Amino acid sequence: MHLLCSCCLLLLFSVGAQGALETPKATPEHVHLSYPGEPGSMTVTWTTWVPARSEVQFGMQLSGPMPLRAQGTLTTFVDGGVLRRKFYIHRVTLRKLLPGVQYVYRCGSAQGWSRRFRFRALKNGVHWSPRLAVFGDMGADNAKALPRLRRDTQQGMYDAILHVGDFAYNMDEDNARVGDRFMKLIEPVAANLPYMTCPGNHEQRYNFSNYKARFSMPGDNEGLWYSWDLGPAHIISFSTEVYFFLRYGRHLVQKQFRWLERDLQKANQNRAARPWIITMGHRPMYCSNADLDDCTKYESKVRRGLGGKYGLEDLFYKHGVDLQLWAHEHSYERLWPIYNYQVFNGSRQQPYTHPRGPVHIITGSAGCEERLTPFVIRPRPWSAVRVKEYGYTRMNILNGTHLHMQQVSDDQDGKIVDDFWLVRPLHGRTMYL
Ligand SMILES: [Fe+2]
Repeated sequence: MHLLCSCCLLLLFSVGAQGALETPKATPEHVHLSYPGEPGSMTVTWTTWVPARSEVQFGMQLSGPMPLRAQGTLTTFVDGGVLRRKFYIHRVTLRKLLPGVQYVYRCGSAQGWSRRFRFRALKNGVHWSPRLAVFGDMGADNAKALPRLRRDTQQGMYDAILHVGDFAYNMDEDNARVGDRFMKLIEPVAANLPYMTCPGNHEQRYNFSNYKARFSMPGDNEGLWYSWDLGPAHIISFSTEVYFFLRYGRHLVQKQFRWLERDLQKANQNRAARPWIITMGHRPMYCSNADLDDCTKYESKVRRGLGGKYGLEDLFYKHGVDLQLWAHEHSYERLWPIYNYQVFNGSRQQPYTHPRGPVHIITGSAGCEERLTPFVIRPRPWSAVRVKEYGYTRMNILNGTHLHMQQVSDDQDGKIVDDFWLVRPLHGRTMYL
């Protein structure tokens, strides 16, 4: 005869409700950082499986007590799968951080604490050189770039990560357990560096609800579009998906476009201080991959809009966007400076010095279960470099005129397979005309 105490009954009931491997608990999981956009701040986001307080303890000493405290908010997220799994998402913003200083933190509550993580507060102002890792399309399976990204992070190589859409494949799969697995996998990177995101097509299920719930991006738009300043750069993140998933609201195309227009106008008013304008969106306007994606079509929706309205190429050209970061194609491609299918190199010898059009980089080869995407055999005239290998991009915004990019190959044990400098003058930076 088996006698079960009330605790055991509670446990059994909870295991049944949450799935065999998940014991409900208040110990933080999926810990990650993001930059909320105000200087001297950092947001910590995590998940628990029962309601709990949201607190971060932090300090500047690597060991010993953490004297500082910050409290935040708890929201409940219910996944759209049949199990309707319930997540308790905690968000705490740390403020008045000293620029460039390393902090140690743990998050949670008296019911359960995370282990300790470290991060370095972003520097303030424009006179420093941010270093970023940029990639898209990284899954919970076959995440080829992740081991090296972890090592790079441990060595302090970056100030932030840009994940240009398509996470986990997919976060909603298996009643969102694939999303849980992915968030655990990226924790050694994302709990130590601001992990900045934009939505991709793989996030679309239940109106992007897993994406909106799990990440905390600047602004009040659930991370669909936002912008932030980083050293000499203004970085704009947006959703290409509004052009494709019209069932979630056709009006979002116009709404985002108007927001982009206003944001670009403001960025140009501030251009003497922050000369670089960099965009990140998931689906590119150009690509030379051997598939039927939007970027292979002349009338690409991202490039030309819907019915000739709200196209992004004209908007970004008009406002002098320097660099456009894309993913979605599982490969790396660097384009010559381009506008309307015409190459606008600075000069024959130095194509990227004083270019007369924006530069596009497609970096979607971080690794996922869908493997790599092949290219068409003959490169397009506007395609400068194509790499069909797993990897990710390093970007160093050296100062207001010089930006350095490298492509790391994970197939070749970290070899740099593309390397170029983008150089633009400080003055007359608003337009290409
Ligand atoms: Fe995609």
